[in-house]
Amino acid sequence: MTKQVSRATFDEVMVPNYSPAAIIPVRGEGSRLWDQEGREYIDFAGGIAVTALGHCHPVMVKALKEQADKLWHLSNVMTNEPALRLASKLVDATFAERVFFANSGGEANEAAFKMVRKYAYDNFGPEKNEIISFTQSFHGRTLFTVSVGGQPKYRIGFEPVPAGITHVPYNDIEALKAAISDKTCAVVMEPVQGEGGITPADPVFAKQVRELCDQYNALLVFDEVQTGVGRTGSLYAYMNLGVTPDVLTTAKALGGGFPIGAMLTTAKCAQSLGFGTHGSTYGGNPLGCAVAEAVLDEISRPSVLEGVKQKHQLFREGLEAINAKYKVFKEVRGMGLLIGAEVVEEYAGNAKAFVNAGLEQGVMVLVAGPNVVRFAPSLVIPDEDIREGLARLEKAIAAMRG
Ligand SMILES: Cc1ncc(COP(=O)(O)O)c(C=O)c1O
Repeated sequence: MTKQVSRATFDEVMVPNYSPAAIIPVRGEGSRLWDQEGREYIDFAGGIAVTALGHCHPVMVKALKEQADKLWHLSNVMTNEPALRLASKLVDATFAERVFFANSGGEANEAAFKMVRKYAYDNFGPEKNEIISFTQSFHGRTLFTVSVGGQPKYRIGFEPVPAGITHVPYNDIEALKAAISDKTCAVVMEPVQGEGGITPADPVFAKQVRELCDQYNALLVFDEVQTGVGRTGSLYAYMNLGVTPDVLTTAKALGGGFPIGAMLTTAKCAQSLGFGTHGSTYGGNPLGCAVAEAVLDEISRPSVLEGVKQKHQLFREGLEAINAKYKVFKEVRGMGLLIGAEVVEEYAGNAKAFVNAGLEQGVMVLVAGPNVVRFAPSLVIPDEDIREGLARLEKAIAAMRG
């Protein structure tokens, strides 16, 4: 017998580390979702930049069903065809020469952070162990990743945290110059800070970070968990910046909704994660890799990547038009379909009000920190869904302005 569940069940049986919305979506198709009551929503949230092909895209469903009938799991004692195909395609499409598979962005970063320390240990000795990252950055919720992440709220209460990590302001090259030294093993950055408020890296800053890393024999790690797999209109955001990292982490959109993460790197760095140094039971699981291969093939199509740029324009113009009427946003910024609208002073600390008002009108949006409303929809969201979703958002904002 199927047990009836509702939002109230969450408070009865789940750890309260989340505070989910009052509605429970039960079905999705493309960029539309339906809740338990049959109410329809336009999805501008994309499962937090995950459902890059929308919900239940036929190429993902086909890949999942075909693999489900063949082979689900082997463990890393054996390799498998989907993992090898996916890794080969990632290597062909990027700077990378080697791939490590994990199950999430946090785990891909954990692998990256362990590898950069081990690389420095192997090549320069144990003194070279310091990691520099940026304030407001976000890299996941494991102990190492909240420590490298630049938002103290995620680590307070969990101390002692790993040592040897420094945070400097983003887009501030002088601050990085003052912090970097021969003891630095890596600099870690998001090409666009996502959770921190949709703040793109200044391309000149990114180039200077690369130069400083080279000068101090430090590795450059790009966390592309949120920006990767087409979200900014290029397959990876480093391609827009003209800066090549030594290590890149990717997850979220890679599986389109199936949990998978990956760390991409050079053959030389990969040597430092030799046999037995690191692992994951499910990393490189055939089901996840089969779905991700289909997602990667689909998103790599020039028409999809071109579409992201054109849809960015549609969003930006729509948001600017809403703002011209209601004056709720200070700034609209971002790249491709990772867009942030910073709220005016009146709503400071309360961007969440836009999420709740949106739900009332049948449109799902996100926040990125307390002051930014975030949009991270499917990369193939139909233009008519963008227009309809923005019309619903306008109604929500009109109701807020009341
Ligand atoms: C840039 C970045 N890195 C890492 C993560 C963590 O990924 P996951 O939640 O899959 O562990 C996120 C998630 O929001 C992210 O945006």
